[in-house]
Amino acid sequence: MSATETVRRHNSYALGRSPQEYERLRAQARVWEAATGRVLDQVGLPQGASCLDAGCGPGETMRMLARRVGPGGRVLGVDADSSIGTQAVAMLHGSGHRQCAFHPHDLTAGEPVPGAPFDLVYARLLLFHLPQRVAVLARLWDAVAPGGHLVVQDYDIRSISVLPDLASVGEVGRVIIEAFGAAGADVYVGARLSQLFAQAGAGTPDGTDVSGRVEPFGTGRVFLESVFRSVLPAALAHGVTTEDAAAATLAEFDRDAARFADRPMLWPLMIGAWKRKGQA
Ligand SMILES: C[S@@+](CC[C@H](N)C(=O)[O-])C[C@H]1O[C@@H](n2cnc3c(N)ncnc32)[C@H](O)[C@@H]1O
Repeated sequence: MSATETVRRHNSYALGRSPQEYERLRAQARVWEAATGRVLDQVGLPQGASCLDAGCGPGETMRMLARRVGPGGRVLGVDADSSIGTQAVAMLHGSGHRQCAFHPHDLTAGEPVPGAPFDLVYARLLLFHLPQRVAVLARLWDAVAPGGHLVVQDYDIRSISVLPDLASVGEVGRVIIEAFGAAGADVYVGARLSQLFAQAGAGTPDGTDVSGRVEPFGTGRVFLESVFRSVLPAALAHGVTTEDAAAATLAEFDRDAARFADRPMLWPLMIGAWKRKGQA
């Protein structure tokens, strides 16, 4: 399948494919860097190991993996969006991580994972988007080498809130949840990881990890607003909101963010699970 076909087939993804969305993903990756590092510390990743980052996006986790495995290791990113992956690898090579490569690949297409097996198969914020999440997870588990690890981190967005509640934040949250739901996403997938590992044939995870973030609404608003803007085309297409209602919500959200900037805002939970594959 060509890269263009890969992207065309992958049309249920609710987030955008714009430079702004790529920058949002980079900023989001920086927020979760410590949480991902902690999970990678749990499984241990030796120098020289081979890794897959499934749904690698802007490549920020690939950078972390490259630092851990060193120049003798191998880090392959796959993503249905060839544009984001190509940019990621150019950036990684530019900063000296020549052991990184990218392959455009739709993980729902039923084809084998390229380059398998790997010592580490990692996926963050991927299963969330995929209605075929059990089948994809089974395929990722198949791509783990004997003695290697499968590591997944994903959101449960039930926690998103400002304290005390604000109607504008509630409406932004409603639109986000319903737009993702209409596109086949599971916005609580993080909490379901143990169940999904079992359904995918990997068994009960060896460990789990829950990370969160709280910050003043005055700064945290950027996260909520950027996700809202990113899912808005999908929300409009599925009738979750209208142009006028979305504009009114954003105006109210803006006023609230200025007025209640010091209220604590809770982000989604980032939940991790990992499993070591036994030696054959
Ligand atoms: C929210 S981003 C997360 C990116 C990265 N894993 C991170 O945590 O920074 C989800 C990524 O999964 C990719 N993706 C979505 N559906 C996919 C599929 N069917 N096959 C491969 N990649 C997919 C998207 O293109 C996007 O880059």
